[in-house]
Amino acid sequence: IRRIGVLTAGGDAPGLNAAVRAVTKAAILAHGWSVIGFEDGFEGLLTGRSCPLTLDSVRGLLPVGGTMLGTSNRTNPFWCAVPEFGDREPRDHTETLIRSLQRHEVDALIVIGGDGSLSIAYRLWQLGVPIVGIPKTIDNDVRGTEVTIGFDTAVAVATEAIDRLHTTAESHHRVMLVELMGRTAGWIALFAGLAGGADAILIPEIPYSLEAIVEVIGRRERAGRPFTIVAVAEGAQSREGQAVYEITGPQPYQRKYGGICRVLEEQLASRVRLAVRSMALAYLQRGGSPTARDRTLATTLGSAAVHAVSAGHFGQMVAVRGDPHGRAMTSVVTVPLAEAARGPRLVPADHPLLDAARRLGI
Ligand code: F6P
Repeated sequence: IRRIGVLTAGGDAPGLNAAVRAVTKAAILAHGWSVIGFEDGFEGLLTGRSCPLTLDSVRGLLPVGGTMLGTSNRTNPFWCAVPEFGDREPRDHTETLIRSLQRHEVDALIVIGGDGSLSIAYRLWQLGVPIVGIPKTIDNDVRGTEVTIGFDTAVAVATEAIDRLHTTAESHHRVMLVELMGRTAGWIALFAGLAGGADAILIPEIPYSLEAIVEVIGRRERAGRPFTIVAVAEGAQSREGQAVYEITGPQPYQRKYGGICRVLEEQLASRVRLAVRSMALAYLQRGGSPTARDRTLATTLGSAAVHAVSAGHFGQMVAVRGDPHGRAMTSVVTVPLAEAARGPRLVPADHPLLDAARRLGI
């Protein structure tokens, strides 16, 4: 190996820059390889937009949010329209992508992405591209890893928001609904809901009933607590299966979420005595500087990905696993990209945080 390529794809997540920095430093310092970054995810790889990554270019990146390489969640090389190529309709760009890798003399590619981008990486590996994946997404919904880069920061931001909602909800005697991201999974809502002391948490894995929420609000009112905070995952669904997203295309990322809190606000307003207000935390959860945990996770996984390349572990993703023997909290492993490509990882029914929530009457 003489040169590796790296790209960040899908929605941005705090810690992406820390991962790019770790990949670059480990490649240069531990192996003497050169590193090239492709801009805006697979788009830059297709169109040849790239930049050399050096020790100088990654200096100071560790605490910086976003991704210095840029990202895109529109470009699936197997089926997309690239305006630079004059495409009006989506088409298959696999050939162009493989030629671009050859032209850039890239011996291995590191893809930092969520389940959509890692599925693309898996298909490219099946076509013979030497690829290693790094899992990132604030949603924490990648199979094969306990945690993804960006999740901890999103939970921290959401927790602080719920803390702030408490004081205004209490002062005004209101029911406050806060909508959190996560697509089809409830990881952010569950973790931030518990950490922020929400009174009810609605996640897609457990369909909610409006009656149960009304009951929590009433119970609290009767106990002299005339305010309630409800943490709502954007993919939450009622028992009646009310959809809160619009399908806008064939890919999982082409679903438009949003608006569940507005729907709930309307429904609750006619059912409870307290005033109801709602808000979506939206992109604030993805922005800004990563937490210390996300920085160390990104640094660990970035350097592990370089090690995986040097060991020839292609078609794999670096991941965090709980140690089944309990000797250590976690270990860094490689798992087949095929695992990540199996679709989003949902909160399992036996997750300890669900038990904790239930015991607290949430
Ligand atoms: O996957 C990360 C995420 O932030 C989801 O939580 C959210 O549903 C989606 O991306 C929003 O995507 P977009 O950037 O396309 O609005």
